[in-house]
Amino acid sequence: MKHIISPLDLSTKELDDVLSLAEEIIADPKKFAHVCDGQKLATLFYEPSTRTRLSFEAAMMNLGGNVLGFSSADSSSAAKGESVADTIRVISSYADICAMRHPKEGAPMVAAKYSTIPVINAGDGGHNHPTQTLTDLLTIKNLKGRLNNLTVGLCGDLKFGRTVHSLINALVRYENIKFVLISPEELRIPTYIREEVLDEHNIEYKEVNVLEDVMPELDLLYMTRVQKERFFNEDDYVRLKDLFILDMQKMKYAKDDMLVLHPLPRVNEISTEVDNDPRAVYFKQAQYGVYARMALIMTLLEVNRPC
Ligand code: CP
Repeated sequence: MKHIISPLDLSTKELDDVLSLAEEIIADPKKFAHVCDGQKLATLFYEPSTRTRLSFEAAMMNLGGNVLGFSSADSSSAAKGESVADTIRVISSYADICAMRHPKEGAPMVAAKYSTIPVINAGDGGHNHPTQTLTDLLTIKNLKGRLNNLTVGLCGDLKFGRTVHSLINALVRYENIKFVLISPEELRIPTYIREEVLDEHNIEYKEVNVLEDVMPELDLLYMTRVQKERFFNEDDYVRLKDLFILDMQKMKYAKDDMLVLHPLPRVNEISTEVDNDPRAVYFKQAQYGVYARMALIMTLLEVNRPC
């Protein structure tokens, strides 16, 4: 039994296999409509979500399975003080697989220790979001045609943005990846990502604080929201939240084939005028999330491909 707590829980080969399966599903989704008949996915969400929870649920339903779960800590017995360890012991007897989102870093890892079913981290605090990374890689592979030889701009809240941390961890395993890290000083990537991931893999990167200057060199621009819920001080959030706003004026500096990604939700960081630019692929990206999660569920439940 395998749990997915970090993108590194899948080897590069396993990751590529999940992406290939997702591409097979995209090509003929109906073929997969009954591969999980009779199986149940539990979605244990202690923190708000639209895309991750609903795309997990859509994914399981598309595979013929059923879903159960809760969408906030308040609507579960966590509100009465139940621990994650006790909750997962019980859920293990109700479902075949579970996806957990939690505001505390490491909570899904604790759950995995006590679980007898596969646990998927659906986002833990400012730490990791591996299924967003699968979604991002599937989007890039399909729309860009490759996962190597890319200059990737990551812009916004690189300190608390768990999607950014997971994406960096996954992309460093591909060839000739360069990063341009665009953020204010206070929201730069954590030291452990810089030292243990970028430096460890000899990855070329630079840290800048002006988006326009670096636009022409990017193959991908991954925008992120400043994570209001992770700030201790409201004044700091207000000061930093609108420092980077992508608009059509800035898009003029970008390559014709640069893609704009965003894990969503968007607040102000991408002007809605950009939505109609063919390079803006963040809504397609959200759609790819269903296929990526279908492939991951099949892989963890060791479901055979249909004939
Ligand atoms: N991308 C993402 O995690 O979105 P939600 O918070 O809506 O799940």
